[in-house]
Amino acid sequence: SRLVKEVREKKEAGKSRARFWEVAGSKMGSITGLTGGEREEKARQEELMRLEQGSDDEGDYRGKSQFRTHMKTNEAASEFARTKTLAQQRRFLPVYSVREEMLQVIRENQVVVVVGETGSGKTTQMTQYLAEDGYTTFGLVGCTQPRRVAAMSVAKRVSEEMGVELGAEVGYSIRFEDVTSADTVIKYMTDGVLLRETLVEPDLDRYSAIIMDEAHERSLNTDVLFGILKKVVARRRDFRLIVTSATLDSQKFSDFFGSVPIFKIPGRTFPVDVLFSKTPQEDYVEAAVKQAIAVHLGHPPGDILIFMTGQEEIEATCFSIAERLEQLGEGVPDALILPIYSQLPSDLQAKIFERAPEGTRKIVVSTNIAETSLTVDGIIYVIDTGYAKMKVYNPKMGMDALTVFPESQAAANQRSGRAGRTGPGTCWRLFTESAFRHEMLLATVPEIQRTNLSNTVLLLKSLNIDNLLEFDFMDPPPQASGRRAGENIMHSMYQLWVLGALDNTGGLTALGRKMGEFPLDPPLAKMLLAGAQMGCSNEVLTVVSMLSVPSVFFRPPDRAEESDAAREKFFVPESDHLTLLHVYQQWKSNGYRGDWCSAHFLQSKGLKKAKEVRTQLLDIMQQQRIPITSCGNDWDVVRKAICSSYFHQAAKLKGIGEYVNCRTGMPCFLHPTSALYGLGYTPDYITYHELVFTSKEYMQWLAEMGPMFFSVKETHSSRLEQRQKERTARAVMEGELEKSQAEARVLQAAQ
Ligand code: CDP
Ligand code: MG
Repeated sequence: SRLVKEVREKKEAGKSRARFWEVAGSKMGSITGLTGGEREEKARQEELMRLEQGSDDEGDYRGKSQFRTHMKTNEAASEFARTKTLAQQRRFLPVYSVREEMLQVIRENQVVVVVGETGSGKTTQMTQYLAEDGYTTFGLVGCTQPRRVAAMSVAKRVSEEMGVELGAEVGYSIRFEDVTSADTVIKYMTDGVLLRETLVEPDLDRYSAIIMDEAHERSLNTDVLFGILKKVVARRRDFRLIVTSATLDSQKFSDFFGSVPIFKIPGRTFPVDVLFSKTPQEDYVEAAVKQAIAVHLGHPPGDILIFMTGQEEIEATCFSIAERLEQLGEGVPDALILPIYSQLPSDLQAKIFERAPEGTRKIVVSTNIAETSLTVDGIIYVIDTGYAKMKVYNPKMGMDALTVFPESQAAANQRSGRAGRTGPGTCWRLFTESAFRHEMLLATVPEIQRTNLSNTVLLLKSLNIDNLLEFDFMDPPPQASGRRAGENIMHSMYQLWVLGALDNTGGLTALGRKMGEFPLDPPLAKMLLAGAQMGCSNEVLTVVSMLSVPSVFFRPPDRAEESDAAREKFFVPESDHLTLLHVYQQWKSNGYRGDWCSAHFLQSKGLKKAKEVRTQLLDIMQQQRIPITSCGNDWDVVRKAICSSYFHQAAKLKGIGEYVNCRTGMPCFLHPTSALYGLGYTPDYITYHELVFTSKEYMQWLAEMGPMFFSVKETHSSRLEQRQKERTARAVMEGELEKSQAEARVLQAAQ
């Protein structure tokens, strides 16, 4: 990857620009996010824990050196995990001590908000408690998660705790993957899956209780579910709704449901020393790698958790740590370096929960998934880069983009808290205290206020909620005020109208209703339906399925040329979409074989996933009585179907390899892995499925977003210039939206 390369080059050149604290921690200003009273309370709780564990450690830990305490507590904790059965571990969780009271509150109230620190047992225990209290005798107990990985891993853990097969009594359901059966009584699922279920079953009659987990994350789907479930609660007196949150914004949830009780699970965490970087880091990957090595070599046992923003960086970080430890040679203690991110195959994901061999330190490198959704026991050291990837509507690109943002203060505090679960810990923040105070938002902006809502709008319209402005949102999305015009409901409606899903009065068209049946983004659903109309649904189905899974091309860094050559053999001139179709068809005619995949540098897992997705979409098409047709080898019509759904992402040739978006004029370039790249000539017009920020854009963007974060020198006048530019860009964007709305009105008048 690019980052691996960068890290490697930098290392080879011996250039390390990041200035660093001398011996990690020793000379840095240290603040601890705890008051004296809280510290005492925590110490008391630690004492309790030690007694529970039967430890003979007699001393007062506050009087001892931190390091000794680290070691002792950690040994005790890992000893605990090693020797205790799952049942004993369950009884040790904080939620266990309040089990009876909590069940009582739930019996007496239809809606309860439950607050408890991460790792207190909310996700794994509450479903089981409800089952034990009889709720599964008259329905399912469902638990929603904003993240797929969390839904899968938690279901697996709970099935182990209950001693049942995953998919039997305990199962999970995520988009395109349903691991439940007729026996299932506890079902973990993504919030998106439950939202789609409300389409077919508005009262959720199959469920006796729903736990809306991780509500503090405020994912778009969770926010929409709030409004829908509030109605279900009003209609079904037998139904229970539990909303859980790891943070303190619980009052808002309680108010929304009509001042319902807030149940607090007492915490059991240890003090965490929080250390800020003295100077801004120019390269946080590099800085994190260095800090991890320093901790590994200089600090007592205890696992390390590093927060990065995404797969590429995580891989670069793992690679670089491993490489440097190797170079240090003999005498370096063993380390087990484990990545975790949502696209990682689930068997590898499970590895972060496994215990490392004696004397080996675990170093987990994660996205913000380990912030609250997943708990890895034994973490004592946290290294926080200060960034997270977020889906944000980008008016310049006219679509949502996963972009790197500084995290919020609340998120930073969650992350540092991860170091204090099994004993006192330390968190190194790779940003300055001033950046924390002045650059970071207090809390993360809810997704509903920052992303394109066309998916949600289509779904709500399918639920016959016609007046979206009247829907019961906890925090309504920005309206058509023009202030944040690019992000509002009107804009999303415009996009749907362009695709033909809405009519001129904003009502759902027959096409729109059909589109809503597919768990796909509106343009992809449109592509499928256009394919059916044009007589190539069989082929388009394959294209859509391939677009719904991660890239199937395998490109190991040490065999880059070989794999590039293999990929080029599949190229269909002028089309990446058709290249994907070609790959799939070849795989099919080779009996869907795994060895064929490896021989051609293809990920057989990804292809298998695409095949599964294809089967599921095919099912929906058959249910909808949409004709399955094939165009044989004449693929031109497939191109047409693709154009019919992605015309808003069309671009016109401007220079060599350079295009500009037909509507926004935004420049874009072909990706080096595209079949169009190096074709010898370039087509005059293209449509694209996805835009990614190049490293150039990305760096510039980082500098814009966080001038205090990065040591980018900026003068007063250049800052003024920047503001002026922003104002102009916003005016252009608003003008465009107005224009499109005016166009819509004209069209409406003409008809
Ligand atoms: O939801 P909450 O953060 O309150 O806690 P949880 O996810 O229920 O986790 C409680 C405990 O279960 C963790 O501390 C882990 O020890 C364990 N767990 C695990 O070992 N493997 C998982 N996949 C999930 C939880
Ligand atoms: Mg949880």
